[in-house]
Amino acid sequence: MNWQKEFAELDKTTHDRASFDCGEQELNTFLHTQAAKHMEAGVSTTMVLPASQLLPGGKYPICSFYSITPSSIQRETLPEGLAKKLPHYPVPVFLLARLAVHSEYHGRGLGKITLIRALKHLWKINAHLRGYAVIVDCLNDGAKDFYIKYGFKELCEYNGRVRMYLTMKTVAQLFNE
Ligand SMILES: CC(C)(COP(=O)(O)OP(=O)(O)OC[C@H]1O[C@@H](n2cnc3c(N)ncnc32)[C@H](O)[C@@H]1OP(=O)(O)O)[C@@H](O)C(=O)NCCC(=O)NCCS
Repeated sequence: MNWQKEFAELDKTTHDRASFDCGEQELNTFLHTQAAKHMEAGVSTTMVLPASQLLPGGKYPICSFYSITPSSIQRETLPEGLAKKLPHYPVPVFLLARLAVHSEYHGRGLGKITLIRALKHLWKINAHLRGYAVIVDCLNDGAKDFYIKYGFKELCEYNGRVRMYLTMKTVAQLFNE
């Protein structure tokens, strides 16, 4: 099965959440039971990439997804050279709260496509409402290596996870014409 061309906002009437399995229970549970509720509550946005073929029940399987939400960090967690240019109050950032690819599609470039789509989404938001960086809390070492590959740097430990960041200036370099 292949994936569609465009990402769409998660819609539980169209997208089959239950069949999504990325191999990480925490991320599966989030998509199965929490992502839509969080959207309804107005605390995060989840975008999905549907497969091109419908399931017998009339919904599309989900090939990958990402969730984003506003957040903030303390300037002291950043390297000194960056921190000294920032205010002493919490610094606004964008949290890439979740990103995962269905196991069936691992190793086919979809993680990269999904990450670039998430960064482009945040870059567009940043044109209207500024955030200093994109941050991500890595679930495991594999995730950390994945984000390092795309320029993310280690920021600090947060809730037992490695928190990484990529400045919006760097993100803008990817997309500015
Ligand atoms: C991590 C994940 C998103 C990668 O998705 P994927 O579709 O398999 O990745 P891609 O095929 O796009 O790979 C892109 C690049 O990242 C590398 N990569 C992928 N997974 C990696 C990992 N676990 N460790 C190190 N590098 C990795 C690939 O080798 C590839 O590099 P290349 O372009 O030089 O060949 C996917 O494995 C996943 O959903 N894992 C479970 C959920 C998870 O851990 N999410 C992160 C939460 S913080």
